[in-house]
Amino acid sequence: MNSEKITETFLKYFEKHKHKIVPSDSLIPEMDTTLLLTSAGMVQFKQALLGKQKPIAPRVANIQRCFRTGDIDEIGDRSHLTFFFMMGSWSFGDYFKEGAVDLAYDLIINGYKFNKDKIWATVFKGNKQVPKDIETKKAWLKYLPKERIVELGEKDNFWIVGNTGPCGPSTEVYYDRGKKFGCKKKSCKPGCDCDRFLEFWNAGVFIQYNKTEDGKLEDLPMKSVDTGAGLERFAALLQNKDSVFDVDIMIPITNKIKSLSKKQSKIEIRVIADHIRGAVFLIADGVRPSNLERGYILRRILRRIIRNAQLLEMKENYMEELVKTVIKTYEGTYYKGFNQKEILNTIEEEKQKFEKTLNKGLKKFKDFNFKKTISGKDAFFLYQSFGFPIEITKDLAKENKLKVDEKGFEKEFKKHQETSRAGVEKKFGGAGSFGEKVAAQHTATHLLHQALKEVLGNEVKQAGSDLTPERIRFDFTFDRKLTDEEKKEVEDIVNKKIKEALPVKLETISLKEAKMNAIGLFEDKYADKVQVVSVGKYSKEICAGPHVKNTKELKHFKIKKEKSSAAGIRRIKAVLD
Ligand code: SER
Repeated sequence: MNSEKITETFLKYFEKHKHKIVPSDSLIPEMDTTLLLTSAGMVQFKQALLGKQKPIAPRVANIQRCFRTGDIDEIGDRSHLTFFFMMGSWSFGDYFKEGAVDLAYDLIINGYKFNKDKIWATVFKGNKQVPKDIETKKAWLKYLPKERIVELGEKDNFWIVGNTGPCGPSTEVYYDRGKKFGCKKKSCKPGCDCDRFLEFWNAGVFIQYNKTEDGKLEDLPMKSVDTGAGLERFAALLQNKDSVFDVDIMIPITNKIKSLSKKQSKIEIRVIADHIRGAVFLIADGVRPSNLERGYILRRILRRIIRNAQLLEMKENYMEELVKTVIKTYEGTYYKGFNQKEILNTIEEEKQKFEKTLNKGLKKFKDFNFKKTISGKDAFFLYQSFGFPIEITKDLAKENKLKVDEKGFEKEFKKHQETSRAGVEKKFGGAGSFGEKVAAQHTATHLLHQALKEVLGNEVKQAGSDLTPERIRFDFTFDRKLTDEEKKEVEDIVNKKIKEALPVKLETISLKEAKMNAIGLFEDKYADKVQVVSVGKYSKEICAGPHVKNTKELKHFKIKKEKSSAAGIRRIKAVLD
C-alpha cells in the first residue's frame, strides 16, 4: 500500500466514524508559545484537551507534519526521524479507552489488513500517582491473547509533550517483524531495545490529567483520547521495507543522495535524507537559520547535511538537486505551495556561510589530536570559532572513537550566553549613538510585534528581524498583504505606546519560570536562564538584546514598506525618527 493510500485509508476510516478531518498545523506552533516546533498532532489541540477551549468537534483526525529534536541522535537507525508525518485522531470528552481500542484494532486488521498474529499491545503498568490501566488491558483482551499484552512503565506508556500540560497513560500497538530483526534474547518483547517489535501506533494517550510545574497531576474536567501514528513507520511495515528510509515517499530522496555521492555510506545517507526533508519543511513554514531557538535547530541540521555531503563526496550542486527532489516528492499531497526559490536561496546562503569555516574547523580538529575525550571547552571552541553544532563534533568523535563531554559543552554554552549578553549590554549600553539607536529599535520591534498581533490576530509570529542604524526589518508569519488601514493601525498603536512613556524592564529568570508563564519560544536545551523584556504591561518577550529604559526614547515610529518575504511570511521595514 503506498503512502497516499495509507493516509487516505486513515482519514476515510475516521471520517466514517464521525471524526472531523482538519488540516495540518504549521511546524511553528500557532497555539502554543511554550513549544518551539510542532512535535505531535495534539499540539494544536492542547487548549481543548485542557478544557480551556471548546474543541472544534467531539471527534477529529488529521495528518500533521512534525519535528522532534529529541530524536536527533537516533537518526541513522531503522525507525527514527526528526521530521515525519503523523496520522492522528482525537476524542474530546467523547469515547474513551474501550472505544479507542475498538477503533484501532478494527482499522489495523480490517482496514490495513495487518497479520493479526503479529500484533502486540502495551498498556501502562502504573506508578505511585497513576494506577495500572486495567480498563485498557480488558479492552485489548477482546482481541489479543494476554501474552501479547505487555505492561510497561512511564518511559514507554505515559505520554506528555514537554514537562507540563495534558497527559495520561497510553496504549501502543507493536508489530512483530520477526527474529531476523531481533536481539534473539528470550526476554525480547515490546519495550526491548532491538528492532524486532516495532511500535507503529500510539493508539491512545488517555488524557485525563494536567501535569503542573511541581509535578502534580490534576484531574481534567473531561477525558480525552489522543492517538498518533508515524506514516513512515506504517509504510515500512505495509510495504515490507527494512527501514523508514526505504518507503515510497523516502526512496526518491535516498536514491537521489546515492546518485550524487561518490562514497556510499548508509548512516550518512540516512542523516542527509532525514535532515533535508526537515530543513525544506521548516523553511517552507517560515523558519530561517539563526543562532536562536528554532532558527538554530534549522542551522544545526543544515550544517550536518553539509558535513555529511562532504564525507560522501557529493557532487557540487547536490543541495539544489536534493531540495528539488524533496519538493517534487511532497508538493500537492503533503504540502501546497512550496516556495522553491526562497527555500533554495536560504539553504545556499547557509551553505556558503558554513563552507567558509568547515574545513578550517576540521583541520583544527586534527591539530587538537584529541585523546579519548573532547572537553566541553574544546567542543565549544569548535562551535564558537567554526560554527560546529554539537552534532558535528559528536559525529567527528564517533568517527575517531572519542567521547565528547556534552555536559561540559552545555556549561560553556551557557556561560558564553551570559557573558555575551553582558557584552552586548556594555557595547550598546547607552554611550555611543549607534548603541542608543539599536536599543531603541529593539524596543520598537517588541511593540511592533505586539501591535501586529493585536491588529492581525494572535497567530502572527515573529519569523526574523534585522536592525541597522538606518532601519528596522521585521519578518512575521502572515499570508496576505496588509491593507493601508491595517498598517496605519499598527503604526498608531506603536506611537501611542511610545507616547504613554512605558517603562522597559529587563529581568533574568529561569527557563522553567518562563515556560510556566508561557513567555517566548524555546526548546533550547542549553540555556537555563533567559532575559525577559517587559514593555509596560503591553508586551513581554524573551530577548537578549539591549533596550531603552522608557518607550518615550523611541520618539516616533513609521512603517516604510510592507511586502512578501517568503511564502506565508511578510516583511516590514520601518524607521524611528
Ligand atoms: N501525542 C501522542 C504521540 O505523539 C499520540 O499522538 O505519540
